[in-house]
Amino acid sequence: MEARAPVGVIGGSGLYSLLEDAERVSVETPYGEPSSELVRGTVGDREVVFVPRHGRDHRYPAHRINYRANIWALRSLGVRQVLGPCAVGSLRPELGPGTFVLPDQVVDRTSGREATFFDTGAVHVAFADPYCPDGRAAVQKTAAGLDQPVTDGGTMVVINGPRFSTRAESQYYARQGWSLINMTGVPEASLARELAMCYTSVALVTDLDAGVDEDSAVAQDEVFQVFASNIERLRELVLSTVAELADQGDCRCAHAHDGLTLPFDLP
Ligand code: ADE
Repeated sequence: MEARAPVGVIGGSGLYSLLEDAERVSVETPYGEPSSELVRGTVGDREVVFVPRHGRDHRYPAHRINYRANIWALRSLGVRQVLGPCAVGSLRPELGPGTFVLPDQVVDRTSGREATFFDTGAVHVAFADPYCPDGRAAVQKTAAGLDQPVTDGGTMVVINGPRFSTRAESQYYARQGWSLINMTGVPEASLARELAMCYTSVALVTDLDAGVDEDSAVAQDEVFQVFASNIERLRELVLSTVAELADQGDCRCAHAHDGLTLPFDLP
């Protein structure tokens, strides 16, 4: 039987220790260095390759992450499906800290990031539906099995940071009908699509953003502390999903290059 492709996970370093037989792998890419060495291990009978998004000791803030190198490195190790757990602020009072959300849309408010592999030629991938339907279904099924409530759907606006939003910005985002806010969701998801990889964002609400909670401002220590106190639940959800996930199928992500001429060979 042909070996199954490994699943990629890009996330906070709290997920790292759970990998059995973890080995560190250095990967060079045409775009420079990934956030750190990658960590390769197994969950059940599935190989997993983990990238700590912000690097060791959280050395890269969201606007300085080498997203292209991270995605390229994963693909070059055989990964075709990526799970992207992330911390998010909430733009809705009913989505309180500790809530898991599976966003289904994203709005890109970032700037100045290296956000594409396609710097030459006319290569435009479809991104109308940014997340993999199979990956989202696998997370939902896994969460139900674990008795973990997950809010299905929602639009995540991605700001450049590193500062948090003003109250007016936050209220504006909420008025658009958007429900989540973070700083890393793009170009991570769009770069995965450019390499025809499946990408599923798994969001953990760490705070109510400034426009929702009128009495306080978002503070970094609050975000880190809520993330840390939910890391076991998030780790269980992500790693159980890895075990649940079927190989890349016939989804929109796998067909991202249909009709296109790529300016390079895929890794
Ligand atoms: N990440 C976690 N919470 C956030 C917030 N309120 N705004 C932007 N990014 C975040």
